[in-house]
Amino acid sequence: MIISAPTDYRNAAKKKLPPFLFHYIDGGSYSERTLARNVDDLADIALKQRVLNNMSELSLGTELFGEKLSLPIVLSPVGLTGMYARRGEVQSAKAAENKGIPFTLSTVSVCPIEEVAPEISRPMWFQLYVLKDRGFMKNVLDRAKAAGVKTLVFTVDMPIPGARYRDMHSGMSGSFAAPRRILQAMRHPHWAFDVGLLGKPHDLGNVSAYRGEQTNLADYIGWLGDNFDPSISWKDLEWIRDMWDGTMVIKGILDVEDAKDAVKFGADGIVVSNHGGRQLDGVLSSAKALPAIADAVKGELKILVDSGIRSGLDVVRMLALGADCAMLGRSYIYALAAQGQQGVENLLDIYEQEMRVAMTLTGAKCIGDLNRSSLIGSL
Ligand code: FNR
Ligand code: LAC
Repeated sequence: MIISAPTDYRNAAKKKLPPFLFHYIDGGSYSERTLARNVDDLADIALKQRVLNNMSELSLGTELFGEKLSLPIVLSPVGLTGMYARRGEVQSAKAAENKGIPFTLSTVSVCPIEEVAPEISRPMWFQLYVLKDRGFMKNVLDRAKAAGVKTLVFTVDMPIPGARYRDMHSGMSGSFAAPRRILQAMRHPHWAFDVGLLGKPHDLGNVSAYRGEQTNLADYIGWLGDNFDPSISWKDLEWIRDMWDGTMVIKGILDVEDAKDAVKFGADGIVVSNHGGRQLDGVLSSAKALPAIADAVKGELKILVDSGIRSGLDVVRMLALGADCAMLGRSYIYALAAQGQQGVENLLDIYEQEMRVAMTLTGAKCIGDLNRSSLIGSL
């Protein structure tokens, strides 16, 4: 398969992965309207072409929380990444480091903090979910600190998992899920050998290290529902702030009032996100939610954004809408599933090239030059 555009990786991943994994990545909640809008609303935003500005010197780098990034991109936390490629979290972290950007490890990763952190010299970011077992959260924060993590991404838009009907159809959950998954793996022998066999152990590495026993992944979706805590409130953030003296970023903000509360709380950053359309279907796309949030809180904390970004042009659009930095979810996961670490590095090269063209032809010499005047039309 010839890969030349970022979206080619989706097809390549679809071929490579057993369907239960591909659809877990690819799918959204309910009728997937928000998932579709994330991509469509963003792609619809018109860039303003400007010419003859001597664009021979371009700078794509930025600084975030005292850290230098060679591109305004961070890899979003994605659960079960070690199921999509062999020890996938390690491969992703290495790719991010080689491209000079941060990688965020999910709470529900396959590889534990202690496996990933020593593989890179750049401090990774860590994403925290609120589990009912508060002892786990304290334990995992201590371990993250010990591993050199400086930036904590606290995800707040998953007090309970949204219903992902695709997972029930695909064998990720639902009736006869286990035998269906085995059959699917047999039909994908490359994956079965490379990841299914050589990529073991397959469990939630961070949770297992705390509990001292393997987490049974047979009913992963059920596990999320049983262990995530719907009682989460701003008080929990204060409790975490007391335990965490590093940078704190709140992920899953979609409303102006919540963004203002994040400023009041003293967060260092927010991620404007609807979890890639995987939680409440029907909410606004990130591209539509972002401008009002940027108007309300820009400059008071860093604004990161994800959900729907599929190209370097989309990164440019998000920055022009008011974000300080973009985050990639599915886009890099498809590349990882298709071609491992090399795939993620190639993808980031394509993003960089696309950004260079978009910035050259919008007349933006550095990412700070991107703003609403780089766009045409109503938002
Ligand atoms: C996610 N996301 C996510 N977010 C998070 O905070 N912790 C997690 O463990 C996960 N797990 C996860 C698994 C999979 C398979 C996907 C696709 C997504 C959400 C993720 O961080 C990000 O917000 C979205 O992926 C952004 O949307 P796009 O870029 O995928 O459209
Ligand atoms: C998901 C969780 C794990 O979106 O964040 O599937």
